[in-house]
Amino acid sequence: MMFASRAGHVEVSGIRKMFESAPPGAINLGLGEPDLQPPPKVIEALKKAIDSGMNKYGPTGGIPELRQAVAERLARFADVKPDTVLITAGATEALCVTMQTLIDNGDEVLIPDPGFVLFGPQVRLAGGVPVTYSLAEDNGFIPGIDELRALVTHRTKAIIVNSPANPTGAVFDRKTVQAIADFAKEEGLIVISDEVYDAIVYEGAHESFLGKYENTVYVNSFSKVFAMTGWRLGYLTAPPEMIKQMAKIHYYMVACPPTPTQYAVLAGLREPEDYVPKMVKEFGIRREIIVKELGKMPGFHCLKPKGAFYAFPTYDYDMASEEMAMSLLSGGVICTPGRAFGEQGERHIRFSYANSQDNIKKAMERVRHHLETALKGKIK
Ligand SMILES: Cc1ncc(COP(=O)(O)O)c(C=O)c1O
Repeated sequence: MMFASRAGHVEVSGIRKMFESAPPGAINLGLGEPDLQPPPKVIEALKKAIDSGMNKYGPTGGIPELRQAVAERLARFADVKPDTVLITAGATEALCVTMQTLIDNGDEVLIPDPGFVLFGPQVRLAGGVPVTYSLAEDNGFIPGIDELRALVTHRTKAIIVNSPANPTGAVFDRKTVQAIADFAKEEGLIVISDEVYDAIVYEGAHESFLGKYENTVYVNSFSKVFAMTGWRLGYLTAPPEMIKQMAKIHYYMVACPPTPTQYAVLAGLREPEDYVPKMVKEFGIRREIIVKELGKMPGFHCLKPKGAFYAFPTYDYDMASEEMAMSLLSGGVICTPGRAFGEQGERHIRFSYANSQDNIKKAMERVRHHLETALKGKIK
């Protein structure tokens, strides 16, 4: 065979498939990225960085000023030293470096189901075995500690957690975070916490795993908060001895994170404006619209998401989620089948509400019309 076996161990992400068959004029509620542009000050700083020659390789760990600014940002959770912060090419690379550094052949990693599409494949690419724990809707999409405990074997190395969560919109409360941290400590596991939606919380407060347990790899990103998914900047922090190993692997993967965008983000962090609160307020209005509209759909039920920008309703139609998503696509709305996020995501649909209020309203009208016509009488 021509390819390494690991290439066959991962599949094309189920999110991407939908776009290929979208009819013209379809409204896109499939994408996990804000519809806004980055803050003007950040764009200005990027242009300035490029014009002033910041176009070269930089330090592997990121520019010192940005590592310092990130450490300051994290001070509300824990005493983080700038040299334990790595600036990465998005949370995607941060997660990849984490797995490549910590996971050996055959090591088991607990991952959420439904959960973000990267977790399983990244564990597999590192030679590990993803073991899913369920986020049941009737438990508010919160992990059950008894189930976690039952899944642990002598090969279990780490648990991946994600709150606020993609695709469910769940936000773990303090008790849950502490219970998972205690569980990890008792079982000797590393916690890998993906907190890329930390700023986007509508109910309650974001509770970080950072500062709760020393063996934590904390992963975050500027993609969502500064609406700059295409600029590829994220970061992680971990205990010093882990960071040393991670920095080596990070070098062999990307040499260094992109230089000009680091200066741009630094300007955004140094002069905090009301950009993020405004974005969260706007997404909050969209959340109300989509939840209300989904509540009126025949055969659809939606738990109100508490964070991120996804609604994850379940439905009573006798159809697999891929079939349902394709059917809604023919009705003019792009969404993501719940199955793309794991077996437990089946019979759910993910709608991203990072789209304009008008588009969300129009999309919901189309969904309702489709359910009342094309899928009429199909409720089981
Ligand atoms: C939970 C989660 N983690 C990580 C990422 C990837 O973020 P980045 O753009 O920083 O690579 C996403 C993007 O959708 C996400 O939803």
